[in-house]
Order: sequence, then C-alpha cells, then structure tokens
Amino acid sequence: MKIALTSLIVALISVISLTDKHAPVLQEPQDEYQVEKGRENNIFAEDNENCLVCHGEEYYQLSDTAQDKSERRIMPSNYYVDRDEYYQSNHWSFGCLDCHPYDFEKFPHPTSARLEEPFHCNDCHGFDEQYAHYHFDEITEEYNESVHDDIEGFSCWKCHDPHSYEITIRTSENLEETILYDNNICLECHANYDKFQLLSSRDEIRIVSSHDWLPNQAAHFKSVRCIECHTEISDSLLVAHKLRPADKAVKRCTECHTSNSRLLATLYKFQSKKIRNDAGFVNGVILNQSYVIGANRNPAINMLSFIIFGGVVLVIIFHIFMRLIKK
Ligand code: HEC
Ligand code: HEC
Ligand code: HEC
Ligand code: HEC
Ligand code: HEC
Ligand code: HEC
Ligand code: HEC
Repeated sequence: MKIALTSLIVALISVISLTDKHAPVLQEPQDEYQVEKGRENNIFAEDNENCLVCHGEEYYQLSDTAQDKSERRIMPSNYYVDRDEYYQSNHWSFGCLDCHPYDFEKFPHPTSARLEEPFHCNDCHGFDEQYAHYHFDEITEEYNESVHDDIEGFSCWKCHDPHSYEITIRTSENLEETILYDNNICLECHANYDKFQLLSSRDEIRIVSSHDWLPNQAAHFKSVRCIECHTEISDSLLVAHKLRPADKAVKRCTECHTSNSRLLATLYKFQSKKIRNDAGFVNGVILNQSYVIGANRNPAINMLSFIIFGGVVLVIIFHIFMRLIKK
C-alpha cells in the first residue's frame, strides 16, 4: 500500500513538473496608443502625394512652367517609394517631411538638402521608454563593432530601408517568410553589385561561390539567416548586430547540427521563449525541427510516452482502489 501511494505521489509530481509554467518570461509591453497601420490612418497621406506624384510612380513629369513645356521621364528605381510598403512599414504614420528637409518641396531638389545628414535611429528612439525593449543603445554598440561600420556612407538605414522596414522576426508567425525577409536585407547589396559599388571599390563577392562548402546551399539559405553564421551571439538582443569578418563566420556543421544548437540562441530565440511562455513548454520549436538540429525529440514519440505514462498512473490508481475495496 505504502509503495503504491509513494509511486502515485511521484507520478503526480512528475505530471505537475511537465506542465511547469515558471519558465523565464519575456516581457512584451503592450502599446496603448496602437492605431491600425494603413494609408487611411496617416494624417499626412495627402501631403505625401506631393512627393509620391513623382516618387510613387515609374514615370514623372519634368515640367518647365516658364516655357509651358513638359515631358515624361523615368523615375530611377532606387528613388521609387512603394505606397503599399510605406504605409505598412514601421514608420507608416510619418509624413515625408518628418524626415526630409522642407527644401525637397522644390524641384530640381537643391544640393544642400540632398547632402543633409539624415536622422539617426537614436535621435528618436534613444532614451525612449516605449522602445526600451528593442535595446537601441546596445544594438548601436554592436553595430559600431561590426564589419560595416568602417565603410563610409554606411548606416543603420542601409539595412533598415526607411520606406519599407517592418519588424518581422518579433511579429511574424511564418519563420520561412521571416528568413527570406531578413536575408533579402543582406542580398540587397551582396547580390546586387550596383548597390555594393556605391560603398566599396572591391571586386564583386559572389555569395553562391563563397558558400560552396555548404551542402545543399539553397535549402540552408531557406532555413537559416545570414546573420546566424555571421554575427556573434548576444545574450540580451533578439537580433544580434555584431557582424564579424568572413574568416570568423560559423563553418562547423556541429554548431547547428547538435541538440545544443546555436540556432536556439539566434533564429529560434524568440519562438522558443514565446512558446515556453504560451504553453509552459521547453524548447517547443525543437519539436518541429527535431531532425534538423539533432535533438532526439519527436512529437509521435512524445505522445507515445505520454500514453504509456498515463496508462501506468491508471494501473496504480486502479491497484490502490482495489486494495481499498478489499480492506
Ligand atoms: C517632379 C517630381 C518630383 C517631386 C514632386 C519630388 N521629387 Fe524627389 N526626386 C525626383 C527625382 C527625379 C529625383 C532623382 C533625380 C534627382 O536627384 O534629381 C529625386 C530625388 C529625391 C531624393 C534623393 C536625393 C539624393 O540625392 O539622394 C529625395 C530624398 C527626394 N527626392 C525626396 C523628395 C521629397 C521628400 C519630395 C516631396 C516633398 C519630393 N522628393 C518630390 C523627383 C521629384
Ligand atoms: C523615417 C524617416 C523617413 C521617412 C518618413 C521618409 N524617408 Fe525618405 N529617406 C530617409 C532616409 C534616412 C533616406 C536615406 C537612406 C539611405 O541613406 O540609405 C531616405 C531616402 C529617400 C530617397 C532617396 C532614395 C533612397 O532610398 O536613398 C527618396 C527618393 C525618399 N527618401 C523619398 C521619400 C518620400 C517620398 C517619403 C514619403 C512618402 C519619404 N522619403 C519618407 C528617411 C525617411
Ligand atoms: C524621426 C524619428 C524616428 C527615426 C529617425 C526613426 N524612428 Fe523608428 N519610429 C519612430 C516613431 C514615432 C515610431 C512609431 C510609429 C507609429 O507606430 O506610429 C517608430 C517605430 C519604429 C519601430 C516599430 C516599433 C513598434 O513597436 O511597433 C521600429 C522597430 C523602429 N521604429 C526602428 C527604427 C530604426 C531601426 C530606425 C533607424 C534605422 C528608426 N526607427 C528611426 C520614430 C523614428
Ligand atoms: C547589416 C544589416 C543591419 C544593420 C547595419 C543594422 N541592422 Fe538592425 N536589424 C537587421 C536585421 C536583419 C534585423 C531583423 C529584422 C526582423 O526580422 O525583424 C534587425 C532588427 C533590428 C531591430 C529590431 C530588433 C527586435 O528586437 O525586434 C532594431 C531595433 C534594429 N535592428 C536597430 C538597428 C540600429 C539602431 C542599427 C544601427 C546602429 C541597425 N539596426 C543596423 C539588420 C541590420
Ligand atoms: C548597403 C549594402 C550592404 C548591406 C545591406 C549588407 N552589406 Fe555586407 N558588406 C557591404 C560592403 C560594401 C562590404 C565591404 C566590402 C569591403 O571590404 O570593402 C560588406 C562586407 C561584409 C562582410 C565582410 C566580408 C569580408 O570579406 O570579411 C560580411 C561578412 C557581410 N558584409 C555580411 C553581410 C550580412 C550578413 C548582411 C545582412 C545582415 C550584410 N552584409 C548587409 C555591403 C552591404
Ligand atoms: C552556414 C553559415 C553561413 C551562412 C548561412 C551564410 N554564411 Fe556567409 N560565410 C560563411 C563562412 C564560413 C564564410 C567564409 C568562407 C571561407 O572563408 O571559405 C562566409 C563568407 C561570406 C562573405 C565573404 C565572402 C568573400 O568571398 O569574401 C560574405 C560577404 C558573406 N559570407 C555573406 C553572406 C550572406 C549575405 C549570407 C546570406 C545570404 C550568408 N553569408 C550566409 C558562413 C555562412
Ligand atoms: C547555421 C546553422 C547551420 C550550419 C552551420 C549548418 N547547417 Fe545544415 N542545416 C541547418 C538547418 C536549419 C537545416 C534544415 C534544412 C531544411 O529542413 O530544409 C539544415 C539542413 C541540412 C541538411 C539537409 C538538407 C536537405 O537536403 O534538406 C544537410 C545534409 C546539412 N544540413 C548538412 C550540413 C553540413 C555538412 C554542414 C557543415 C558544412 C551544415 N549542414 C552546416 C542548419 C545549419
């Protein structure tokens, strides 16, 4: 009887610990002022059309009012601002002139306005409680030690397109889309020599051939981000920003293909924390990715062990019940 009771207690305790919800909690502050994104909610939308009449179209009208002459001209693609992307981006609620000098209302645009230094992210986000959870200061410190920092003309804006950047890894449910979004940020230059050349006189770096040591490159680039291998892991940042030189990048397969994969501290960082919060589950993401990182967890096996476990508990309860009846 005693043995049966003890094993019942042990069994109950292990059931409780399986559903333990006391894992560390990631704080996600709720924004009380949140307004739904979109052109219809932007109070500057009409003013913005003064710029988008040219920058939001593939052609613009080059006019000379004095001579009453006008002709169509191509808007160069790197000066094109997509309305839909703009009004869904982080800075969707802005007027163009919140960031650009008023002199841009004149055309041709005066050189002084064109050469004016743009705002830095921290001019607005530094020391602001509402954005403290993004750790702008720490990101800036990491960026200052990254390979791009020494390049003249490089800035946060080169990766965070002012007219389309949208936080993704933190909000998207779709990991594959997030990976694609983040990798395209890098490929904007590393697969586009025209853009690369604006910043460097180096010969073209061909990403496909510099990564030909990686088997099934296409599958890897769909499943991991460039920054998984190229940044130093950060304990506090969701997205590490310290990009190291190529010779310090991750090349050993076992850094990812093990149960203690670096992906848990990078790509899956947010998911593993979030799922742990929502479901009281440890390493929830690994369940889906089990074979990938070499973790030996598998949903089917988990379910089977649950059934066996439940069966054992039932047998014990039945046993106690019978003994009580006999008494
Ligand atoms: C008549 C069409 C037209 C209008 C209206 C117009 N732009 Fe432009 N803008 C251009 C063209 C064409 C270019 C690229 C060629 C050039 O620099 O002249 C350009 C370039 C720019 C640049 C890049 C300058 C540089 O050197 O990097 C910025 C920034 C810009 N425009 C902002 C604005 C803003 C903000 C407005 C609205 C207040 C605006 N533009 C209105 C046609 C226009
Ligand atoms: C959140 C600030 C911000 C807002 C809002 C903004 N811009 Fe910009 N824009 C910038 C910055 C910063 C750059 C320079 C980007 C760089 O250095 O790579 C830029 C560059 C440009 C360029 C030059 C092309 C380029 O990408 O370098 C054009 C054209 C332009 N902006 C037009 C607009 C128009 C039109 C609007 C409004 C619909 C607008 N911008 C709103 C910050 C902003
Ligand atoms: C001119 C001021 C200004 C600058 C410069 C600026 N931001 Fe913002 N940013 C804002 C404001 C204001 C919002 C909130 C917009 C809204 O939702 O209406 C915002 C929103 C964001 C958000 C979304 C926050 C959320 O919780 O939804 C992110 C991320 C962000 N900015 C990153 C950046 C980065 C990275 C840079 C530099 C590349 C930058 N910002 C530059 C003012 C700025
Ligand atoms: C080499 C490219 C690159 C540069 C340069 C860069 N970032 Fe980022 N940053 C990224 C990528 C990629 C993400 C992930 C975007 C996503 O999926 O949400 C990111 C995300 C962020 C986020 C959101 C992090 C979160 O917790 O959700 C902030 C804030 C940010 N960057 C700020 C900055 C600031 C400030 C600078 C300049 C000091 C900067 N970034 C420079 C690539 C870059
Ligand atoms: C705006 C263009 C641009 C973007 C966006 C960009 N890079 Fe770069 N990157 C460069 C340039 C230019 C260099 C310097 C080449 C040189 O040495 O002159 C460079 C250098 C590097 C190097 C160092 C190469 C070496 O030989 O050591 C790595 C690694 C790198 N980038 C990775 C990335 C990753 C990862 C991302 C995305 C998170 C990214 N870059 C985004 C332009 C860019
Ligand atoms: C699986 C890890 C991994 C991934 C993912 C990865 N890289 Fe690399 N990358 C490396 C390693 C390791 C090197 C150094 C290769 C060598 O020295 O043989 C390198 C080299 C580079 C270089 C320098 C190449 C040269 O010839 O100088 C650049 C630039 C670069 N990577 C950018 C990227 C970009 C952009 C992406 C995303 C599309 C990316 N990497 C994805 C590991 C990776
Ligand atoms: C940055 C982490 C990372 C590194 C480093 C890495 N892998 Fe992977 N690898 C992954 C992920 C994630 C997948 C999942 C791909 C999928 O499911 O499509 C994968 C998939 C694979 C696959 C299966 C591809 C397929 O056809 O679906 C093989 C084989 C593989 N990796 C071998 C290697 C070898 C060999 C190395 C070292 C040279 C390596 N990996 C380095 C993360 C990594």
